[in-house]
Amino acid sequence: MKTIAVIDFGGQYTHLIANRIRSLGLYSEIFSPESFFLQKQEELAGIIFSGGPHSVLETGHPTISFDVKTCSVPILGLCYGHQLLAQLWGGTVETGGKREFGPVGISCIEGSRLFKGIEKIQNVWMSHGDHVSKLPSGFRTTAFSTSLPVAAFESENGKQFGLQFHPEVSHTRNGMNMLDNFLEVCTSTRDWTGEKRKNEILRKIKLEAGNRNLLVFLSGGVDSLVALTVCLEALGRDRVFSTHVDTGLMRENESEQIISHISSLGYKNIHIVNAQDLFLSRLSEVYDPEKKREIIGKTFVDVLNDELKNFPEKEDWMLVQGTIYPDRIESGASKSSAKIKTHHNRVAEIEKLIEQGRVLEPLKDLYKDEIRELGRELHLPESLLQRHPFPGPGLGIRILASSSSIPEKDFNREEALLQKIADSYNFSGKILPVKSVGVQGDGRTYLWPAALWTRDEKQTDWSKLRDCAIQIVNSLKTINRVVFAPFSNEVKITLKTAGVTKKRADLLRKVDAITRKMTENLHEIWQLPVISLPASDENNNWVFVIRPVTSTNAMTADFFQMSPELLNDIVSELKKLPEVGTILYDITSKPPATIEWE
Ligand code: XMP
Repeated sequence: MKTIAVIDFGGQYTHLIANRIRSLGLYSEIFSPESFFLQKQEELAGIIFSGGPHSVLETGHPTISFDVKTCSVPILGLCYGHQLLAQLWGGTVETGGKREFGPVGISCIEGSRLFKGIEKIQNVWMSHGDHVSKLPSGFRTTAFSTSLPVAAFESENGKQFGLQFHPEVSHTRNGMNMLDNFLEVCTSTRDWTGEKRKNEILRKIKLEAGNRNLLVFLSGGVDSLVALTVCLEALGRDRVFSTHVDTGLMRENESEQIISHISSLGYKNIHIVNAQDLFLSRLSEVYDPEKKREIIGKTFVDVLNDELKNFPEKEDWMLVQGTIYPDRIESGASKSSAKIKTHHNRVAEIEKLIEQGRVLEPLKDLYKDEIRELGRELHLPESLLQRHPFPGPGLGIRILASSSSIPEKDFNREEALLQKIADSYNFSGKILPVKSVGVQGDGRTYLWPAALWTRDEKQTDWSKLRDCAIQIVNSLKTINRVVFAPFSNEVKITLKTAGVTKKRADLLRKVDAITRKMTENLHEIWQLPVISLPASDENNNWVFVIRPVTSTNAMTADFFQMSPELLNDIVSELKKLPEVGTILYDITSKPPATIEWE
């Protein structure tokens, strides 16, 4: 079987590249730059250099150990890989001035092999600070954008290619065609199928479990349900036990729904643990997002240890988690990838169990779209598979906390710049006093959001808002996210001291349930986090953010453009709830922001 080798320079999308190649029917494997040697060129169909959080201008930046000039296998460099390839051939890479995060329009030049069969103007997804400013000889530019002279290049012999953007993410509309065109250059063989993948997963579960019984942690989301089902298929009902922990941070009626779903499958080995007080008391005075994630993950492990006391044959067990690939990469899974956020199933206590060989993660190499496909192969009903993803730490990471009511920073200079950009679109804007997590150039950011509102409060022009948001984030280094205040003629928000409490969780549950109910027929919405801010508006009511996004695998996302009528109905409905004040609408793509705020 010929392979496409993906060299991992620590990019957030490295694994996605391999996954995309496999879904195009060719086997693909990931190698670290140190472990990849170009010895068996006959087994390789092609090589892809991934993106990464480093700069090729840094001394000691990651690179490859072979000579690109004598390599006979086709090479494709993406983002950092594109810059590295150009540099290795003697081209010039520069930093600054041309940062781009999220959607960008490029013009493709006719005759390029990677752009064969697609239109000249393309919408692509970028995430970079550096850029190639001068190509080496023997190469030609094949695409450019208004700010980038070299958005893509190709060698004159048609075997080496560079793309500054990410064809592997679903938001680059024709990205799969570009990768398909690269595979055409590499080989005529396509011999990898979905059936092979399912059998491979079943084989690995049997192998890893050996004689041990399994304990599956069911969170309420699709992933852990598919993990349970695939384990049942591999080992049978008697060896697979499951526990659902009610953390007090679930959505409305979530625990009840899970129990009825599982019981309807006729499966009985499920135990429900009510740990609401334990989780909420441990979180009550925790304000830092990473600390919150750490505590939630640790508390899950404490509950697990309690559960094991009742487990048959105590010594002989493995914990099953529904961890999927994005959880691992964002927790800093590969050697050079940056940690964006510690997913709850990657906290220190779980890492210890992993080292001891006690954790089985059957879905750890899959993305959400593939998990749904696997669920279909396992005959799970569509109504369960299509539910919105819900993060393991639940509302714990959607209730933002602050230990003080005094903002960390004042923003006079930035606000003047923000206002100048907002003005040019006929909006007003200000910087909010809370921070949220983002991902820019493959690294984590923890910065402030800007809020925009229109001078004509009836107007909701999404495309203008989107352009303005992109310009703000690309120009202002203190901002990684932009929200819109619909139907407001000014945003007046003050920070307040607030932690994660049952009262806030109850109110958020109500706001979340109403928002989801009113949007349940909008199947384009992939996920709809609702976030409670530690802030109050001029009437001393709580401030919430709604964040509907489109996505296929959570690695990239775009904000969903709701009809103004529906948005109006939602805002009016929510404001009927006591203590619910300003509602903000997140208008940022991923990157530069992440889907969740923490
Ligand atoms: P972000 O916010 O990183 O989220 O763009 C990507 C996807 O992952 C979910 N998410 C989590 N899922 N444990 C999980 O099981 C976690 O700790 C966690 N954090 C984020 C998020 O809801 C989105 O679908």
